[in-house]
Amino acid sequence: MAADNLPGGKNVKVEFEDGIAWVTLNRPEKRNCMSPALNDEMVQVLDALEIDDRCKVLVLTGAGEAFSAGMDLREFFRATDGLPYVQQMRVRRSSATWQWQQLSHFMKPTIAMVNGWCFGGAFTPLISCDLAIAAEEAQFGISEVNWGIIPGGQVTRSLVQAMSVRNAMYYTMTAETFDGKQAAQMGIVNEAVPKAKLRERTTQLAKMLVAKNPHALRACKEAIRSCLSIPFEASGDYLGAKSSQLRLIDDENGRNQGLTQFLDEKSYRPGLGAMRRDKE
Ligand code: COA
Repeated sequence: MAADNLPGGKNVKVEFEDGIAWVTLNRPEKRNCMSPALNDEMVQVLDALEIDDRCKVLVLTGAGEAFSAGMDLREFFRATDGLPYVQQMRVRRSSATWQWQQLSHFMKPTIAMVNGWCFGGAFTPLISCDLAIAAEEAQFGISEVNWGIIPGGQVTRSLVQAMSVRNAMYYTMTAETFDGKQAAQMGIVNEAVPKAKLRERTTQLAKMLVAKNPHALRACKEAIRSCLSIPFEASGDYLGAKSSQLRLIDDENGRNQGLTQFLDEKSYRPGLGAMRRDKE
């Protein structure tokens, strides 16, 4: 089903299917490079999807041959070079807002489906997504040094979170491209599959997430992101508090349901699959 009452529609396409919101960067003729207009649209789309019940899992992908060729060199860089500082900051802010802040804190699971070219600035939304599946044939490149700049915005920060320092150095300094299989070996994506199987595998993964308790999923992803930056000692206290918070806000009463179904009803094994969700 296509999205009816959502913002955007010019540079971004949104479709719903069985709880999955397929969000497609939709400038295929420009290899889905990210212009200020696309960035503004994505800010609104993500804002709307966060509270839209048709979206239980979000998949981010690109139309045509590219996931995204990074920032729009014409509209994001050259066209803003002469603008007053505050206007340049306004343009950069919407880019950072959706690519990093909104996506990495999105309250539902997110999957990047890397269907093709993925360059420069596109690494930020890629790494901000919780999970990523790539086509084996997709080509990745941290190409900034090739045109005389550094990977700015949130790119370098994202890279050192997702890659080893050696690999971040190598691919940032050489701008050598790598494919989906190499991206999977380096852990930048969870797995790579032949392009012909990409949508099928992504759908399978998304449906697995749609079936799980959304409060527990949200708490899991928030906990992982927070644990990246808090000291080891404090993490025990934080995770205890996070667990208590989850029990308070989980209107499915998942923890007790899970214990009852395993210990009393013996209707499932938590190690082997998800519990029955009576609230669905
Ligand atoms: N910014 C602005 N325009 C871009 C762009 C970008 N990042 N990436 C592609 N385009 C435009 C091209 O200028 C071209 O526009 P035109 O038809 O008006 O001439 C169109 O998209 C198609 O690009 P083209 O280079 O002809 O496609 P391709 O399939 O041969 O190559 C890429 C694809 C991605 C390898 C190539 O476009 C490229 O190197 N893009 C820049 C990648 C990059 O370094 N991004 C980092 C930005 S932070």
